[in-house]
Amino acid sequence: MDHFQYRSGEMFAEEVALSRIADDVGTPFYCYSTATLERHYRVFAEALNGLDAGICYAVKANSNIAVIATLARLGAGADVVSIGEMKRALVAGVPAAKILFSGVGKTQAEMAAALKAGVLQINVESAPELETLSNVASSLGIDANVAIRVNPDVDAMTHEKIATGKSENKFGVGWPDVPGVYARAAALPGIRVTGVAVHIGSQILSLDPFRKAYGKVVDLVGTLRAAGHGIEHLDLGGGLGIPYAGEQPPTPEEYGNMVKDVVGDLDCKIFFEPGRLITGNAGVLVTRVIRVKKGTARSFVIVDAAMNDLLRPTLYNAHHAIVPVIEAPDGANNTEVEVVGPICETGDTFGKQMLPEPGEGDLLAIRTAGAYGAVMASVYNTRPLVPEVMVNGADVLVIRERITVDDMLAREILPDWLASG
Ligand code: LLP
Repeated sequence: MDHFQYRSGEMFAEEVALSRIADDVGTPFYCYSTATLERHYRVFAEALNGLDAGICYAVKANSNIAVIATLARLGAGADVVSIGEMKRALVAGVPAAKILFSGVGKTQAEMAAALKAGVLQINVESAPELETLSNVASSLGIDANVAIRVNPDVDAMTHEKIATGKSENKFGVGWPDVPGVYARAAALPGIRVTGVAVHIGSQILSLDPFRKAYGKVVDLVGTLRAAGHGIEHLDLGGGLGIPYAGEQPPTPEEYGNMVKDVVGDLDCKIFFEPGRLITGNAGVLVTRVIRVKKGTARSFVIVDAAMNDLLRPTLYNAHHAIVPVIEAPDGANNTEVEVVGPICETGDTFGKQMLPEPGEGDLLAIRTAGAYGAVMASVYNTRPLVPEVMVNGADVLVIRERITVDDMLAREILPDWLASG
């Protein structure tokens, strides 16, 4: 359910016509719906009713401070993986005491900054990271609250590039090594063990892998407690999938019931790190058709957005539905077209789509682009980062301005040895 709907043949974000925003800010642009963000957060939170739960929004999915602040106002904490993300969360009003610091490659500087800020917990992913954190924390005279992220060796049955819970993946402490790492943690200065963390991947479309992984974690908590470790927190990660092309992922309610079933009796505070589930359907990327080119096999609809703006189709072969902003007249037939960007690579495509063939100047909305869209954008082909716009009822605000080519060039330097004369 989202708030991008047609009204009298024209797509609106809540109360605002996308075509009006296009006139004001130009294309391409990302547009986010506040009502959709809020709805997704609330549905997820309600699904966890009855659990002692904390929702730490995975900032990596969409890190605009207006998005984070929208969720923080509803009570969300944040899951961050860099000092940059931590800063964003703090600026957006997330208290440090609700910030989880995750990530497989934290630097000493990041550890120190997280400790000084007073984050809720640092999720440690390896034995050497634990040793370093102990040194950093001891030198600051701070005890680090630590969960060990474990790797349960469970196949999340998702795209290989976003599966994280198999033993061959770089994430978490390998299952056989877990008890030893906890024993070491208990002995190290500056480390206070608070819990166990697990995250097996993203865009997961079945409850089975979650159930398997969480079941293993429950057994582990028993073993760890028997060995004298105080386990107060369970961090179950994110990963619940969303529909892009008719998939039917488990509902938040089904997911919540499964969690209650598997871990409900553990007497732990349970943290969740949803990202895509909250922001995915809350965003579209609006683009304008530059021209339509008849190829020998099909028509190419060349649009002004490209793989640098939304990388998912080319990186993961991901499908994003594309719809006209102004509905085609009744009786217009859908034909197969390929929607492509202007970048000089065949991979610069948003894929084959069934659409009433658009014409030059038409606006298209690339749907489900609120998660891992703007955050993964680059400036390839010297295409500046596009604006992000947030709608809230009838209000509309540019929440990140378009970067200009001059902004980009201002950060580059011509060596004086190349100066002419
Ligand atoms: N927690 C941790 C430790 C994570 O690594 C991730 C995502 C999440 C939570 C949030 O997962 P979500 O609920 O959003 O599935 N760029 C890829 C997705 C990468 C996900 C990385 N980690 C894509 O566009 O599909």
